[in-house]
Amino acid sequence: MPGLIDTHIVRSTLLAPTSTHRPQHACQFPNLGVGGDLQLLDWLTTYTFPAESKFKDSDYAERVYTDVVERVIASGTTTCCYYGSIHRDATMRLADIVHKKGQRAFVGKCNMNWHCPDYYVEKSVPESISATVDLIRYIQSFPLSPAQEPLVHPVITPRFAISCTPDLLAELGDLAESMPQVAIQTHISENQKEVDDTLRFFNADSYAGIYDKFKLLRHNTILAHGVWLTEKEMDLIAERGAGLSHCPTSNFYLNSGMARVGLLLDHGVKVWHVRVSHFQVVHRPGQVGLGSDVSGGYNPSILHAIQMASVASKVLANQSESKKCNCEHEHEHPDTSSGSAEAEQHLKHKEGRFANKKLGVATLLYLATKGGAEVCCLQDRIGSFEPGKAFDALLVSVRSESGNPAMWSFDLEREPSPESKLQQWLERFLFCGDNRNVNKVIVQGTVIGGQEYQA
Ligand code: GUN
Repeated sequence: MPGLIDTHIVRSTLLAPTSTHRPQHACQFPNLGVGGDLQLLDWLTTYTFPAESKFKDSDYAERVYTDVVERVIASGTTTCCYYGSIHRDATMRLADIVHKKGQRAFVGKCNMNWHCPDYYVEKSVPESISATVDLIRYIQSFPLSPAQEPLVHPVITPRFAISCTPDLLAELGDLAESMPQVAIQTHISENQKEVDDTLRFFNADSYAGIYDKFKLLRHNTILAHGVWLTEKEMDLIAERGAGLSHCPTSNFYLNSGMARVGLLLDHGVKVWHVRVSHFQVVHRPGQVGLGSDVSGGYNPSILHAIQMASVASKVLANQSESKKCNCEHEHEHPDTSSGSAEAEQHLKHKEGRFANKKLGVATLLYLATKGGAEVCCLQDRIGSFEPGKAFDALLVSVRSESGNPAMWSFDLEREPSPESKLQQWLERFLFCGDNRNVNKVIVQGTVIGGQEYQA
């Protein structure tokens, strides 16, 4: 199957190693699965900033990042958007490691000079900008892959609006404008208090509008979370062509809420281009992918994000007033004036194609692959096996020999048709699978990880 794409993973903090895997680093990952009683802003000051400040020691960073990247690859992530700490040199090491291991990735160092503790803050705007430019140039100097393309990309990374003074955001916007091909990643509307503070500090009425004002909202901007976005903001984001990284594990764990992914997809449908293929008009869905958001999320696997995205969508569907139809609306939009049964059913789906519906397996797979590719603006290269794309893939086993206890009793050999067998294998992998079921992780035709991988 196509490789999984993690559109938002944050830095340093991953789970304790398994007994066979670099056990010496167990004590270096203290944050994973810790702090879930707090909400975002308190969690940042209590747990996250202290942990990130340690990355001023580049050797420490190298040890941690080596483990991080190995684990992320082992979980089946072929493309990953990484946030580094504020430290240029440590983030260069992260980029080196990703490059050496052959993963496709975006790597950025955080910009932050406002509302941060004294021990973890960039001292001036010029310092923040020059470190960012150094990192961009450094990553752009990496040799191209055998297919003559870069696998590691730089990404401009203002942490979030309230961690950057208006003059830093303005400089970052100018930098982004001078490098239109360089992606941007940041957080948006994750937590209610964060939204309130942001609007107050910037004297603004729209969070997305702040990024827009500073020229940071565009086709290659990756926005994490978006739990509390208004529909007006969704329209603005879709209009600018920016993508959203849905991080449901983190949103549950940090008590942030549930992003309305269905509604986001519907808003994308309204504004995104219509393309014509095989004489059918196909609506291109809004750009939404999945993110693990480690360590706001406690699991680095995109499989876990898929499971949580499913749960979140079911809770939202159950909460919604339109309980008449919880299934995903797969059929083409009929002529609603025809009075036919299909038209009547369609009218009942009044919120649109995805809003307030549970996300089906096909949509979950889309979010983890093609959706992620669109969010990263790599839809021409990855996300599926369409001709012309790179072969970024997983070889997966759902057989009992995998050692995953959830798989032991599955006997799908007796399924009547190959299609339904394949569909059930896929669903089982998405919902019961873990690293033990990922035999090969392949980026651009090269095996870089998985159970069968030998370095
Ligand atoms: N908003 C700003 N910084 C962070 C972070 O590190 N994690 C999450 N989840 N949200 C953020």
